[in-house]
Amino acid sequence: RKGKTPEEVVKRYLQKVRNPPEEDCTICMEALAGPSGYKGPGVGGISRAESVGRLAQCGHQYHLQCLVAMYNNGNKDGSLQCPTCKTIYGVKTGNQPPGKMEYHVIPHSLPGHPDCKTIRIIYNIPPGIQGPEHPNPGKPFTARGFPRHCYLPDSEKGRRVLRLLLVAWDRRLIFSVGTSSTTGESDTVIWNEVHHKTEFGSNLTGHGYPDPGHLDNVLEELKAQGITEEECLPRD
Ligand code: APR
Ligand code: ZN
Repeated sequence: RKGKTPEEVVKRYLQKVRNPPEEDCTICMEALAGPSGYKGPGVGGISRAESVGRLAQCGHQYHLQCLVAMYNNGNKDGSLQCPTCKTIYGVKTGNQPPGKMEYHVIPHSLPGHPDCKTIRIIYNIPPGIQGPEHPNPGKPFTARGFPRHCYLPDSEKGRRVLRLLLVAWDRRLIFSVGTSSTTGESDTVIWNEVHHKTEFGSNLTGHGYPDPGHLDNVLEELKAQGITEEECLPRD
């Protein structure tokens, strides 16, 4: 879609390594000084199996073919995440299906946040048909428990988390399609790797308040998706 082959995308983030160190590639577990151990499809015809690259920012080294294979296993959005330290190259996006995110302030306090009101986020995703970026393209997916209501304190930090969640929503990173670990159902809409509080006045499920570490945890989880404060600075 971006008009670049997987090899071109991966190479954009790499520096060529001429003399690989005496270490193993942590993707294929073979020596960096020898050929890639990756035997699957998708790397035939590209660079030599001996090619090794260093990720430009974090410095971790892998066989080029191993990185291309890893990229091909993802949703091929033009971004790459270092499998060792999780540094993200480019802009990571997910495969969240179409839907709606809304929010408003409600005039009540959350347990543990007595001094402020509450932000309620409402996510709504209808069932649909899986696209090429989903586990079973062409097959339907279900969507349970929508609209899903989530709560944040309407504090400075809570509003900061909200701004970052809006970015995560635009990048399709809040939900995914897969197997629910709660219900065991497959081909359904599931939470992705950013925790949400879905209980307001109680904490029966463990997804409620009080939870003093919650906002910091969410900020960490957003960071792991490549979403940090700088994303929210006013543009233009
Ligand atoms: N509220 C918030 N987060 C939840 C909940 C919940 N009730 N249940 C699970 N999670 C978190 C899990 O801790 C995990 O990190 O979502 C992540 C994925 O868990 P799954 O069970 O695979 O996700 P999903 O099927 O989407 O969620 C199950 O969450 O909001 C409710 O209505 C929804 O009952 C459903 C439940
Ligand atoms: Zn390798």
